[in-house]
Amino acid sequence: MIEGPRDSERRAVEALRLGMDLGLTHIDTAEMYGNGRAEKLTGEAIAGRRDEVFLVSKVLPSNASYEGTLRACERSLARLGTDHLDLYLLHWEGSYPLADTMRAMERLIDQGQIRFAGVSNFDVPQVKAAQAALRHHKLAANQVLYHLRNRGIEHKLIPYCQERQIAVVAYSPFGHEALPRLDSPAGRVLTEVAQRNGRTVRQVILNFLTRFPDVFTIPKASQPEHTRENAGGSGWTLSPEEIAALDRAFPAPNRDAPLGML
Ligand SMILES: NC(=O)c1ccc[n+]([C@@H]2O[C@H](COP(=O)([O-])OP(=O)(O)OC[C@H]3O[C@@H](n4cnc5c(N)ncnc54)[C@H](OP(=O)(O)O)[C@@H]3O)[C@@H](O)[C@H]2O)c1
Repeated sequence: MIEGPRDSERRAVEALRLGMDLGLTHIDTAEMYGNGRAEKLTGEAIAGRRDEVFLVSKVLPSNASYEGTLRACERSLARLGTDHLDLYLLHWEGSYPLADTMRAMERLIDQGQIRFAGVSNFDVPQVKAAQAALRHHKLAANQVLYHLRNRGIEHKLIPYCQERQIAVVAYSPFGHEALPRLDSPAGRVLTEVAQRNGRTVRQVILNFLTRFPDVFTIPKASQPEHTRENAGGSGWTLSPEEIAALDRAFPAPNRDAPLGML
């Protein structure tokens, strides 16, 4: 997601391009972000490099009727300057029947305008409903809020999706703008783990959140130096002891918790 005044937009485009240089391939945007502006800027960033990225956008629930989804996708493709998305998500469930949205998603797949269909902010019953609404394609992904202090999805949603090979894409991995305080007891654990690994706290957070197979994360970075740091969140592994220490410091709820949403 990128949006903002022109100079910060230029930095955001630079940040995206640097991410591609560093091998970060998943780019997440939505028609909602900046009323289409984020898609335009993403289009600038990927111009000439479309094949290097896994491009994701989202349809707003208010546009997610059958015809509305088809038209929204056309508009997103035009803004992004591409002929296809790798993944198209329903941003959250709205009032249009899921069956209509998913039927449109299947048509978009059949026409080659999207490769995969998914949802966002869906809990397990909603994911089941989305799966049931798809007739001849599989639900590919569910994008949900997941960070150190919001680990409710580990209880049911992650296991459910893993068993069915539905990718879980974690948004707001740093808690949006609420990184844990590093002078708290839990924050000190985070700092110690980071120091032991010669990594930063944010790199430890990203590594911890992606410790399960099929769980991805999409930190937002609109500054190149942030992209560079975040790229160091993968390509190495925390030890089981370090994972256990972080687990104790930032405990997951021991029962199913309602899905958080930004
Ligand atoms: N599906 C949904 O409903 C939904 C909802 C919310 C978000 N999302 C997606 O998830 C993405 C991330 O979520 P988010 O923006 O809410 O939260 P986030 O990624 O947890 O945090 C973003 C904030 O962290 C800062 N940051 C990132 N890397 C940093 C670094 N290395 N050092 C210091 N600061 C750093 C960013 O600053 P700078 O921007 O200045 O680099 C920004 O202020 C969004 O871009 C969007 O694509 C999806």
